[in-house]
Formats: sequence, structure tokens, C-alpha cells
Amino acid sequence: MIKILDGKTIAQKINAKIKAQVAIITNRKPKLAVIIVGEDLASQTYVRNKIKACQECDIDGQVFSLAATITEKEVINKIEQLNNDNSIDGILVQLPLPKHLNSLAVINSIVINKDVDGLTNINAGRLLQGDKQAMLPCTVKGILALLNYYQIPIVSQNITIINDSNIVGKPLGLLLTNMGATVSVVHKLTKNLAFYTKEADIICSATGVYNIINNKQVKPGVIIIDVAINYQGKEKKVVGDIDFATMKNTAAAITPVPGGVGPMTIAMLLENLMACYQLNIKKNIKK
Ligand code: GUN
Repeated sequence: MIKILDGKTIAQKINAKIKAQVAIITNRKPKLAVIIVGEDLASQTYVRNKIKACQECDIDGQVFSLAATITEKEVINKIEQLNNDNSIDGILVQLPLPKHLNSLAVINSIVINKDVDGLTNINAGRLLQGDKQAMLPCTVKGILALLNYYQIPIVSQNITIINDSNIVGKPLGLLLTNMGATVSVVHKLTKNLAFYTKEADIICSATGVYNIINNKQVKPGVIIIDVAINYQGKEKKVVGDIDFATMKNTAAAITPVPGGVGPMTIAMLLENLMACYQLNIKKNIKK
């Protein structure tokens, strides 16, 4: 029987722990600032969910909605202002940004102690070097927490990641490599994708392509971490990259969509925010 890796329940436990930590804070409470540029509906939903999670833990969350036409300099000025605001512990710039903005320049303007998403060049460099101080991107940290919770081995495992983004594929590949896995970072245009998925003990997929692989393209007993959120058919049913029905007699375990990696990502955002809060409360802000 396939095992369901229940991110929702684990995330609820983590969030409850964070809420208890916040409840005993006697000075100022942690605060997250979220910048969203433009009107992307999916981004708006993600941001709403992040702020809701903050509120449920009595963490302050403030959204800065900036016009799609804003210049790069103006966005960076806003970030500088938040960098210097002692009431703010974490700054998250929701991605993707409109095409005329240089995402790297924007992200890298976040001061290191407020890089709650772990996406700045400094945290990415720390991860590359295997530095434990690295703030991990929330999705990556959420996947690790899920694997750890279910005691899924990582050392010596063949892990195929179908995503090569700065948010998921590349940092997850580095993390798992640092932990002793043998990692293939591939993507939806990889030639002969099945060559990599058939060898994998664990597959992490975030392509946005429903049914990107089926049960003929994996080995029996594989563990599937489905990171994608896709909307299917007229009813816009929420699905991942993997059709659960085709895998249920082949895979050993799978994350459901919804209720798998998604809630873990948000719980890890709160964990990262608490870590930033600890740094900022010491008033030792360094870049
Ligand atoms: N867009 C989709 N996922 C993410 C994420 O984890 N962080 C940010 N900043 N933007 C995203």
C-alpha cells in the first residue's frame, strides 16, 4: 500500500509550536513583510496564504502591493527602507516578478538577516559551501523536514529532481548532495527524462506539467515528492505533476497535492522568520 506523506498534519504541528513560541515573547512580536509586484492571481493566492499562516501564529504580516509598472530602483528603495526598519524581521519578494525587473538585483538587495526566503546570493553561496548557517529556501527546507519526519534515508540514495530553478531544484540539489545523496537535477526539457527517473529512489518534481512521468518510468518502491500545483480541467481541480492513481501500485510513498509540500513550505517560512527574528532582536544587523 502506498504511504501518504501528510505535509498538512506535520505543518499544523510545526505551526502550533511556533504559535506557542510567539505567545511567550514579551517584547515586540516577529513581523514579516511581503512584497508583491503586479496582479498575478496565483501569486496573490500564495501571499494571502502566507499572511494567513502568520496571523494564525500571532505573527505580524504586512503586504506591500506594488504596481506592475514600478521601476527596479523603486522596488529596491522599498526593500532598503524595510532593511532599515527595526520592526521588520523578514522580507519576502513574491516571485515571479514582471519581466522588466531584474529578479536577482531585487532579491540580492535584501539584507542577510531578513532573507526569510533564503534566496539571496549570500545564502545561496553558504548552501553551495555546505555552511550550516545558510537560511534554506522554504520549499527545500519543507521537503527535508518531510523526508526527516518519515525517516526516509538520504545518504547514498539516487535522487532525481525535475526542476532547475533557484527556488527549488538547484538549492535542493545542493542540500541533498551535501547530505550524501547522488543527485540528478533535470528539467522538463531533459532528453530521455525516464533514464533519470527510472534510476531514482526518490523523485522530486516541480514542472507544472501534469502527468510528466507515469508508473512505467519509475522503479517499484520509489518515493515521490510532488512539489507542483497545477489546475486541471474546467473545474480547475488542484493537482500536482504526478497522477496519484497511476502510481498507487508502484510507488512506496507520495506527497498529496494539495496537502503535501505546500503547507510544509509555509510552516518553514514561519520557522525561518523566527530564526531571522532571533538574529534581529539581537540588533546585530550585518550585510
Ligand atoms: N513563488 C513561488 N514560490 C515562491 C517562494 O517560495 N518564494 C517566493 N519569494 N516566491 C515564490
